[in-house]
Amino acid sequence: MNEKNKFFVEKITAWYRKHHRKLPWRNTQDPYLIWLSEIILQQTRVKQGLPYYQKFVENYPSLQDLALANDTEVFRLWQGLGYYNRAKNMLATARQLYEKNEGRFPNSYQELLKLKGIGKYTAAAIASFAFNEPVAVLDGNVYRVLARYFGIFTDITSPKGEKEFRALAQSLVPKNSNEYNQAIMEFGALQCTPQKPNCMFCPLQENCFAFAYQEQESLPVKISKTQMRERFFAYLVWHKEEKIALKKRFEKDIWQNLYDFDLQEKDNLYELEQIPLVKGNFLYKSGIFKHQLTHQRIFVCFFHFEIIETSLLSQNLEWYTWESVQNLPKPILIANYLQTWQTKNLQG
Ligand code: ADE
Ligand code: SF4
Repeated sequence: MNEKNKFFVEKITAWYRKHHRKLPWRNTQDPYLIWLSEIILQQTRVKQGLPYYQKFVENYPSLQDLALANDTEVFRLWQGLGYYNRAKNMLATARQLYEKNEGRFPNSYQELLKLKGIGKYTAAAIASFAFNEPVAVLDGNVYRVLARYFGIFTDITSPKGEKEFRALAQSLVPKNSNEYNQAIMEFGALQCTPQKPNCMFCPLQENCFAFAYQEQESLPVKISKTQMRERFFAYLVWHKEEKIALKKRFEKDIWQNLYDFDLQEKDNLYELEQIPLVKGNFLYKSGIFKHQLTHQRIFVCFFHFEIIETSLLSQNLEWYTWESVQNLPKPILIANYLQTWQTKNLQG
């Protein structure tokens, strides 16, 4: 390894020993707990993921507990984290390992890769954190730190970029991959941050390309932008005596397996604002809520109707009391809305 590379690994490791956050999944080599934390953190910030991790560990301290859990309960615990496919794949993997692999995780990167919901990053994280296998983790933090320190302008979203960064990352991994992989990710999360990296007090400064040429802002290079899609959801909230109607979402779309109201999807904001023409006594129209997902921005409006005898309810809708609604797994948007509605109604 050349001097610049050796410097990088040594300084990052020393920095980590001094500055890392004490996080519960760093105190264990149990692949189940590491896997759980990585699945929760896949598209979630540490601050948001931490309480979920704690809830899951409390409720399902071992792989067996999770494998034997019921779906609805798991989805309910997951509520608010988003990307419910993660929860679905997580359960599928837990059950598969429980039934076919004596409840044990495979102990190599290649075998881990074969599991549902485990991609290259997660496989590398588990292999190194639990088994100290010398395989590089490559996540957004790692891309950024490498691009800046080494001055690599290849588009990180291109296949060529991935290959180049992966080869470099792999060439740096020392024997103690566990600590080093944690270290480079933590360094990206706390020190070499996307905006305003802390270059003034950085142990890599004297050898860092981006610092020398003031290119922090332009690195890493990301060319392909993810396209955003706007959607407009008009929710009909049907009331009958003390009950409201919800249904489980089965479509291959967002929020699969969660419960929401009678949905009419509209084409634009203007249409969203019009009170839907349905047979029912109109009660109330909410304001417009915005809900941001990774690739979708959803504008939502709620219309409350009291059902009349001739109203035709679409299929799958079922009546729930306020109490029983609490126990359904719901998109966080729906859960929040119900919460506000209920509070408002209790006040009169
Ligand atoms: N984000 C994803 N995995 C993480 C980990 N192990 N520690 C901190 N942040 C993370
Ligand atoms: Fe990142 Fe700045 Fe440190 Fe370079 S000097 S590694 S850009 S924080």
